[in-house]
Amino acid sequence: MRAYDGTVFRLDQHLTRLEMSATKLRLPAPDRGTIADWCRSVAAEAGDSVVRVFISGGIDPYRPGTDSKIVVFAESVHPGPETMRLQSRIAPWHSDGDWFELTGAKALSYGFNLTATVAAQQDGFDDALLLGRGGHVLEGPTFSVGWISDGVLFTPGLDLGILESITRCTAIEVAERVGIEVREGVYDIDTVTQADEVVAMSTVREIKGVSCIDDRPFQPGAGTAALQEGFRAMVAEEVGP
Ligand SMILES: Cc1ncc(COP(=O)(O)O)c(C=O)c1O
Repeated sequence: MRAYDGTVFRLDQHLTRLEMSATKLRLPAPDRGTIADWCRSVAAEAGDSVVRVFISGGIDPYRPGTDSKIVVFAESVHPGPETMRLQSRIAPWHSDGDWFELTGAKALSYGFNLTATVAAQQDGFDDALLLGRGGHVLEGPTFSVGWISDGVLFTPGLDLGILESITRCTAIEVAERVGIEVREGVYDIDTVTQADEVVAMSTVREIKGVSCIDDRPFQPGAGTAALQEGFRAMVAEEVGP
């Protein structure tokens, strides 16, 4: 979660996703009020920060959740470069629309995603853009993605098994508020490389312009600026002075 000046943005939405993820992992849903209090107090102390909640699997592999440990802590914010250069990479490990019981859970099994980030960086990019086996766009290893074509905001649909990103959800609300039409679906990488602007979205990065995908350059423009401005306004409204 992102805390702004000591207040967590969209705490409830994050806790709902945490509960959903714990349930999918067969871990008892943690007491919401207690975790919310811990998050609030950690954030209040840390100010502008990223607040993380980890729930361990517990001590008994045959009864997940037995004496689970819950850890809540704050870290400093490292949003990365101003704009992002992405390299498309096929992600054979991704659900890619094949649903099984853990699809959509936010768990700590991030090795494959993070290896894609490192591989893209070794090739001179900032991060990877994960593609499904059929070449359609999914998400980044730790962010969701959207693009603007002819004034419409497109983003891969949640039924592709991508993470239900809270920033993506906020961006959709912002778009609707400022009159940008939103379409979700299954889109080939070629559709994205023909877009006018591309954005990466995550709690830590907020809404960030993408300056290239592979060898196709992009210039973040009015659409990206409108989403960023609307996002900031949403944060200010919800987090308050
Ligand atoms: C795979 C993946 N997609 C998207 C996101 C962005 O989600 P959120 O906006 O809730 O931070 C994340 C964040 O960790 C992620 O790991």
